[in-house]
Amino acid sequence: MNRNLIYIILFLLGLNSFVGDNSYFVITQKDVQLQIPKDFPKPVYDFKENKLTPEGFTLGRKLFYDPVLSKDSSVSCAFCHQRFAAFAHVDHTLSHGINGLIGRRNVPPIQNMIWQKNFMWDGGINHLEVQPVSPMTNSAEMDETMAHSVYKLQQNKEYVTLFKKAFNDPHVSSENVLKALAQFTGLMVSSNSKYDKYLRGEEKFTDQELNGFKLFRLRCENCHQEPLFTDNSFRNIGIKPDTALRDSGRMSITGLPSDYMKFKVPSLRNVELTYPYMHDGRFKNLYDVLDHYAKGIFFTNNFDEGIKKNVGSLSEDDKQALIAFLKTLTDKDFIYDKRFADPNSR
Ligand code: HEC
Ligand code: HEC
Repeated sequence: MNRNLIYIILFLLGLNSFVGDNSYFVITQKDVQLQIPKDFPKPVYDFKENKLTPEGFTLGRKLFYDPVLSKDSSVSCAFCHQRFAAFAHVDHTLSHGINGLIGRRNVPPIQNMIWQKNFMWDGGINHLEVQPVSPMTNSAEMDETMAHSVYKLQQNKEYVTLFKKAFNDPHVSSENVLKALAQFTGLMVSSNSKYDKYLRGEEKFTDQELNGFKLFRLRCENCHQEPLFTDNSFRNIGIKPDTALRDSGRMSITGLPSDYMKFKVPSLRNVELTYPYMHDGRFKNLYDVLDHYAKGIFFTNNFDEGIKKNVGSLSEDDKQALIAFLKTLTDKDFIYDKRFADPNSR
């Protein structure tokens, strides 16, 4: 009798994991179809050179959530890029990495990456596949060498099988690690917010949201250009330099004084979820960001004229309307998309 009960329990547990696997985690061909949203431009990253497959994506997802890529197996990509925050890191101003070391910058969200020409706040990297090399090898992030990451994966039978399935190559190579990660992060497309539904005529805006939208188009659009909410440029928007961090922004890449304190215009999609804000997380909420535009500008020689012309004073009603509009950019379908969930959790 007791034994039967145990069998039944074992059977149910087995059934449960079976159902769980199929409904939640197994990626099919359908899941890796890239849909270019209507009105989005042509992507910068071309999957022709890195063919999307269920196996490649599944491998990229496993790598993204696996701390094995860090020196002491404590930090995964997902440690800093949290799914519920559109893959930014909520509540941390500067990133936290291995041994609790604090990085130099705020963790940006990962979304619509295939439309981005440059990565990082200063645009220091210009290819999606190269991007992960930076956190993987940075001493305050994952602190591992590419060669040793590859070595560790090569010692792991499960990974060897997965690499073989994905790239038809049983030898793990750094190139294929990066290609798999790009399949995973490149498919992270956010295009189903209330704003998108409003434009498609599927949902209505409230009066306040509509006012915010109009204000946005007047005052913010020239940098945070629709539909990606960035024009991929670098601008100095009068953020006061932090004397401790001494981050000079784009100038640290180009060496040009005219690029001093210029940072990449961030997309504002899912901005409600990605607090705190700016390259160093100095503003904890959207209200504080708008206060900066309204009255916090720090003037330097290369300060962007676009701000003076377009922003300036914002009334209390203006701010509330802009915030209401910015919240329409939250895309729950993206945040809850099971394809991007941690494959190790149920
Ligand atoms: C210790 C925290 C941390 C870890 C771990 C980490 N990242 Fe990041 N990530 C950041 C920070 C901080 C930035 C911005 C850096 C900058 O601008 O200098 C960033 C930027 C990015 C970007 C570019 C976003 C943009 O808009 O430019 C991508 C893509 C990305 N990371 C993917 C990954 C992947 C893939 C991994 C795992 C291999 C990973 N990250 C691991 C903190 C982290
Ligand atoms: C001249 C170009 C420009 C204009 C105009 C502009 N922005 Fe920005 N915005 C930027 C840049 C550049 C940053 C990043 C600065 C940094 O990190 O130091 C930014 C950052 C932000 C952030 C923080 C996002 C994040 O992920 O940290 C928000 C929110 C924002 N802008 C909203 C607005 C709104 C609302 C308006 C209109 C009232 C506006 N911006 C007008 C260039 C601009």
